[in-house]
Amino acid sequence: MKIFIDSAEVKEVEKYLSWGICDGVTTNPSICLKSGVKGGEEGMKKRAIEIAKLISPNPLSVEVTTDNEAEILVQARKYNAWAENISVKVTITDKNGVGLLPVIYKLVSEGVSVNVTAMMTFNQAILAAKAINAGLAVAKNKKTHFISIFAGRVSEEHGVEQAQKVLKEVREWLDFHNYKNIEIIVGSVRTPENVELWSKSGAHILTIPPEVISKCLMSARTKETVVQFLGDASKALQQL
Ligand code: E4P
Repeated sequence: MKIFIDSAEVKEVEKYLSWGICDGVTTNPSICLKSGVKGGEEGMKKRAIEIAKLISPNPLSVEVTTDNEAEILVQARKYNAWAENISVKVTITDKNGVGLLPVIYKLVSEGVSVNVTAMMTFNQAILAAKAINAGLAVAKNKKTHFISIFAGRVSEEHGVEQAQKVLKEVREWLDFHNYKNIEIIVGSVRTPENVELWSKSGAHILTIPPEVISKCLMSARTKETVVQFLGDASKALQQL
């Protein structure tokens, strides 16, 4: 299982790279806003290129800022040219619930790596996978594409086990139909308990916000044990 960092902060990405646990990075407009990305599209481009270079050849997901099909195509092609390892995030539907599968299929067939995002259900995920698979059949390159299931948001409505069920079943479905070059990303990870549960869902990737990664290392008993060892080490050293 791979870990992506759900952040647009360069310092955070550098930190987790130095820990050896960053297999990629995901962003979205809300994350860019929170991370202080300024300067409109130019600012986004600058940040994206910086992060993409840092993590290359691992992927960076950058999300389009429109739900209009023609505009998505223009933006996605532009983002795709920013760096070899950029994957363009496109929501599964527009704001009215109309599917964006035509643009997903088109972009994949043009060789743009796509991350289909904001998905909550099994049906959305398999339809996204089918559109990607059809695009891959005609694409000249065989880039990896992603289907992002927002497990945390699913859980808020239906509980963590329902999210687990969707993740497991989508993975089984991809494997059963022998779909290649499509990986499941678990999004909206909120807690260390989410990490533990969804790491066992069969999803290829968990994208985790930095604050949740730090919490995953915490244990009061570990802290107490380290204090004990350090105390005893200094006593033992004095006896030598
Ligand atoms: C990642 O790709 C998603 O954009 C992100 O995990 C969504 O998280 P949220 O549900 O906390 O906005």
